[in-house]
Amino acid sequence: MPPEGIITQTLFTREQIQQRVEELAAEISRDYAGGEIFAICLLKGSLVFTTDLIRHLDIPVTVDMMRASSYGNSTVSSGSVKILLDLDTDITGRDVIIIEDIVDTGRTLHKTLHLLGVRNPKSLRICTMLNKPHHRVEELDIHYSGFTIDDHFVVGYGLDYQEYYRNLPYIGILDPNG
Ligand code: IMP
Ligand code: MG
Repeated sequence: MPPEGIITQTLFTREQIQQRVEELAAEISRDYAGGEIFAICLLKGSLVFTTDLIRHLDIPVTVDMMRASSYGNSTVSSGSVKILLDLDTDITGRDVIIIEDIVDTGRTLHKTLHLLGVRNPKSLRICTMLNKPHHRVEELDIHYSGFTIDDHFVVGYGLDYQEYYRNLPYIGILDPNG
């Protein structure tokens, strides 16, 4: 059963998201023109964004997945990050882009970046759909960002609340007490 809570506002419509995804894909395709990228989908939240983004890339791309967990079932970050699933692929010497749904405290990506950085990729960049800097505790260099948002808990377009709402084609603000 879906959890209690209501979506109080649409933050980004399906059309706004699609337009921004196409812009990001164009920017990445330009930056890596003549080369190729290795895209890492950070499960589960970025699965929708990843599948949309890669379909708009004009350059060769290979994809793998990782899963890190920091939230449990709450709407606030727990502070400890666990790697639940690692890559199958060797990233040595490759141009890697980590694809993320949202950067909040930055802890998940900080840990993930460290883990991947020591494997000697040629380059390592972050592409996130949403940047929520309000509670940032780890400084991060975010290379590609869809939208910067205020301190809201959002769902849809891959983002969940207790595993629900990932299928919404838009991004909405969820009030868990609503
Ligand atoms: P961080 O480690 O605090 O940056 O958290 C990043 C992860 O927390 C994201 O990949 C999301 O899975 C989750 N998260 C952070 N903010 C939200 C939100 O507003 N809605 C849904 N999930 C979120
Ligand atoms: Mg995520």
